[in-house]
Amino acid sequence: MRQAKILAKLTYCRLDELNSTEKNLIQAAKNACASAYAPYSHFQVGAAVLLDNGNIVIGNNQENAAFPSGLCAERVALFAAASQFPENKAIALAIAARHENGNFTQKAVSPCGACRQVMTETEKRFQHPLKVLLYGESEIICIESAQELLPLSFTDIR
Ligand code: THU
Repeated sequence: MRQAKILAKLTYCRLDELNSTEKNLIQAAKNACASAYAPYSHFQVGAAVLLDNGNIVIGNNQENAAFPSGLCAERVALFAAASQFPENKAIALAIAARHENGNFTQKAVSPCGACRQVMTETEKRFQHPLKVLLYGESEIICIESAQELLPLSFTDIR
């Protein structure tokens, strides 16, 4: 028998502890909430992907009356980035979310499992860690690589 314990390294920080690139990316994710289409959950999520050419590509949650047909902000952003800039590495992803009253969440918003799977494949595809910044008004969580958020992610081993 063999056992393994998996640890994830998360850094909790304040906005003023981040560099200007990271602050900009978080601001882009916050701004992206404004164009979310969330008439069902009333929870607007914004994501912003930083590419190695300096471009920032945003996404936000796009819901649908047929619930599973909608998509999370993170995947909208990552797929938009990859479809427009297939040659450019995605190097960082910021996520923010706000309630219908316009208030951003106090706690850091954390991506769902399906988005984590897409994030880990993004790292594999571009052979580059994807830094993840989870925004909350009272705390920001920084993760150096998306892999930390999904150990044992699915990879095609056929
Ligand atoms: N949602 C995201 O866009 N990203 C997340 O990380 C979590 C959830 C969306 C899906 C749905 O439109 C709404 O938030 C409520 O679950």
